[in-house]
Amino acid sequence: MKKLLTLAALMWIAISGLAAQTPGGTEILPGIWKFTFGTPDSITPVSIHDAPPRQEAIAALGSDGACPVIPQAEFGRRGVLLTLPLKNDELLYGLGLQLQSFQQRGKKKMLRVNADPRVDTGDSHAPVPFYVSSAGYGVLIDNARYMTFYLGSKRPEGAASDAVKVEIPRSEGVDVYVFAGPTMKEAVARYNLFAGGGTLVPRWGLGFWYRGETDFTQEQILALAEDFRANRLPCDVIGLEPHWQTASYSCSYVWRGTFPDPAAMIGTLREQGIRTNLWMHAYVHPSAPIHDALKPYSGDYRVWNGLVPDLTLPEAREIFKGWHAQATTGIGVSGFKLDECDNSDFTGNWCFPEIASFPSGADGEQMHSLFGLAIQQTIDELYRERGVRGYHLVRSSGAMAAPLPCVLYSDLYDSQVFINAVAQSGFCGLLWTPEVRDANGEEDFLRRFQAVMCSPLAMVNAWYLQMPPWKQMNREKSKRHIVDPGSPEMTDACRKWLEFRMTLIPYLHAAFVKYHETGIPPFRALVMDFPDETAAVKDIAGQYMMGDELMVAPLTATSKGTKTIYFPAGTWYDFFTGERIEGGQALTLSFPLDRMPLYVKEGAILPLAHATLSTEDPDSRILDFRVYGDDPRPTAVYEDDGGYPAQLKENQIHWDAKRARIRFQSKQYTSGKTIRIPSGQPGR
Ligand code: GAL
Repeated sequence: MKKLLTLAALMWIAISGLAAQTPGGTEILPGIWKFTFGTPDSITPVSIHDAPPRQEAIAALGSDGACPVIPQAEFGRRGVLLTLPLKNDELLYGLGLQLQSFQQRGKKKMLRVNADPRVDTGDSHAPVPFYVSSAGYGVLIDNARYMTFYLGSKRPEGAASDAVKVEIPRSEGVDVYVFAGPTMKEAVARYNLFAGGGTLVPRWGLGFWYRGETDFTQEQILALAEDFRANRLPCDVIGLEPHWQTASYSCSYVWRGTFPDPAAMIGTLREQGIRTNLWMHAYVHPSAPIHDALKPYSGDYRVWNGLVPDLTLPEAREIFKGWHAQATTGIGVSGFKLDECDNSDFTGNWCFPEIASFPSGADGEQMHSLFGLAIQQTIDELYRERGVRGYHLVRSSGAMAAPLPCVLYSDLYDSQVFINAVAQSGFCGLLWTPEVRDANGEEDFLRRFQAVMCSPLAMVNAWYLQMPPWKQMNREKSKRHIVDPGSPEMTDACRKWLEFRMTLIPYLHAAFVKYHETGIPPFRALVMDFPDETAAVKDIAGQYMMGDELMVAPLTATSKGTKTIYFPAGTWYDFFTGERIEGGQALTLSFPLDRMPLYVKEGAILPLAHATLSTEDPDSRILDFRVYGDDPRPTAVYEDDGGYPAQLKENQIHWDAKRARIRFQSKQYTSGKTIRIPSGQPGR
């Protein structure tokens, strides 16, 4: 990456004819400045990153040559101290998945990887040393230490104004990158493009995922798939939890006897349009065939008696990939759930300590910050080498993660926190899925179900449930195989939401293409999209944009069907009823259990697919169009071969005002009916 950047910097200087020097910093790409202070650590998120920056897309964002914020550094006994000035009205967002808070100005955060973050101190599954300011710039501190950020929260004697202070312990230097706007949205986009652009999810990844109970056998997994199909329930992926392997805490990556013919099982599932995903973590059990080969490339502490491979090293990656290319991906596994790559020293105490050392030279503290990234990169490489794209789950991530095809999740179970994290993750190149498994009754279950349907990965994580929650949502009763008498109605209700998700896939896929090409996150906070309304939207965490045209505000059981929703300026339409709502106001609205707050921007054309049981069904390529308002914007859907690199073909969708019909041509998609929702609709 460092070499690539130097080359990119030289090319930019050559193109622009500018030496592009800011005091102490260099404009290495249009609107991206690098400041080097002292001697930076050799192992950092940027140094282990392997995707090149998207230079053309960055250039398209332009630059006025003025660095929006100038960092300064001091060195002392405590390490490096950075100071970045703050204006009075600046608000700050980001620092990764901060589950307990949204706007960060005024806070103190120490960025430590922690699987069980209970208080708002900076501990997180995915802490990211990148923040973005409402003044329209972003800052990445390229370091893997547990940094402490004082986000305008402390002002020393004599200081005339606030500043962000960042303390980096145990380092002799650091690289700081500044990303220009003009607004937060472009600053975030520039950061994501610098990392290589957003990930491009294969269409199947956007279908429905279901994870079977940990002890399910090959027979039970096949029966589960048949049950889905018998009940006409869409499903694109079934996940196997730890016990597909002979050892799982730590992992052997060897199929158990309960899966006598995994290749045949994977094949049978594929015939039904269902792919297979496997749970794993990277701690390698003594019985694993790769254990001995990995030993020289592992850290000096074990986790659950397993080796901790140093996956920042190519040698370790090759061994890890070599085995999977035979045993898992080689027989058709489509992806993984990369569990427990976060840390639990502060709570469950199961991880390697900070005092561990690794062959790359990283210590345990640095490895905690990089471990989630390194396992994601390893798995991504495995699929890249096969020429197909995967889509995976991961429990830890970090800086520069935008191109990695992985979605974060967690065991914690607070609905509102989960919903807020969808918008939160969009500030830092992360993707997040709220979790649904068992539930405290119908309302709790359906509201959780609706929330995951409006997220980057729509999944039920039933890893300890004997039956799908629509048959029994109580954990104890599920254990005893007691089917709920209301199961047929609940199955119908869930089918309706699954079909809703299936219809959205072409639209969501196009939002991911945009992420890939422009860096604009597919799921993002309102404060990114409506900079002119910052005062009204600055603290709105539970309401977010899903693509450019849809605004979602998922409910929780505690909201009892009622929510105050802010409508930004413009005209909005209720997705389900077509009711028109004028923006620039907040309204308190009620929703029965079969609806949720989901609004469409005036001028949108929504391409909605026919709901099929899987994305493999050719009927999923039949599109109905919904046209909102009298003067709709053109939009697009994409043909995608699912390959690596992706072969994409854009299909434009226009509204032909003269003939009052959609203009659309595609080899892969066919047009269904068009429904118009004209501006004249009665509304609030
Ligand atoms: C947890 C994970 C759960 C489930 C479980 C299986 O760590 O978060 O989703 O996979 O492990 O043991």
